[in-house]
Amino acid sequence: MSLVIGIDGPAGSGKGTITKLVAEKLDIVNIDTGAMYRSVALATLRAGIPLDDEEKIIALAKKIKIEFDTNGHTYLNKEDVSEEIRKKEVSDIVSIISKIVEVRKEMVRQQRKLAEGLDVIMEGRDITTEVFPNADYKFYLDASVEERAQRRLKQNKEKNIDMSYEEILESIKTRDYNDTHKDYGALKRTEDQIYIDSTNLSIEEVAEIIISKIKESK
Ligand code: DC
Repeated sequence: MSLVIGIDGPAGSGKGTITKLVAEKLDIVNIDTGAMYRSVALATLRAGIPLDDEEKIIALAKKIKIEFDTNGHTYLNKEDVSEEIRKKEVSDIVSIISKIVEVRKEMVRQQRKLAEGLDVIMEGRDITTEVFPNADYKFYLDASVEERAQRRLKQNKEKNIDMSYEEILESIKTRDYNDTHKDYGALKRTEDQIYIDSTNLSIEEVAEIIISKIKESK
């Protein structure tokens, strides 16, 4: 029997790091759905498709092959693009790509297929509501907008990216708005998600909460 754990939450809530850690601890497959939208965005840039040409972007999304390995690397048509999909050029356009309904439908189809027959932890914005509304466990991971901006500021410093706290705060607020105002697959809180506010918690503590909730109900 396969197990599905869904984790949704806004940008900077720590989903990526925490999901990776929980996957390691439980020895299950980790699927980062944001990396899939980022891969479509990268392929769009590389193909030189204008961002308002939705037909071409949709056709491209259906044609490309997105895969993951067990180390969490992302492959676009067999090429490791794990680093490239995190670059600014991709981050700048990914919310436009992820708003296109037919692109989302294609990604949702692929996400369900990727999880077939496996024990997975999948993170994104619409996993607990759209991709796997019947997931075995559903979590919503949150943190205050100020804390999320602080975390991003720290990450940027480590990567030598020069952005002020105010700029980061504004960009996170814009992303929050975009994430929660989509026609299809918007980030939403629901009654059946387990809500975790990580503002004052470490990554380890959040991972432990998630694992204990899973063990508790077994
Ligand atoms: O989590 P992230 O920053 O890597 O996500 C990249 C983009 O994709 C971001 O704009 C939100 C969007 N996204 C989405 O719309 N649905 C998902 N399931 C995952 C990400």
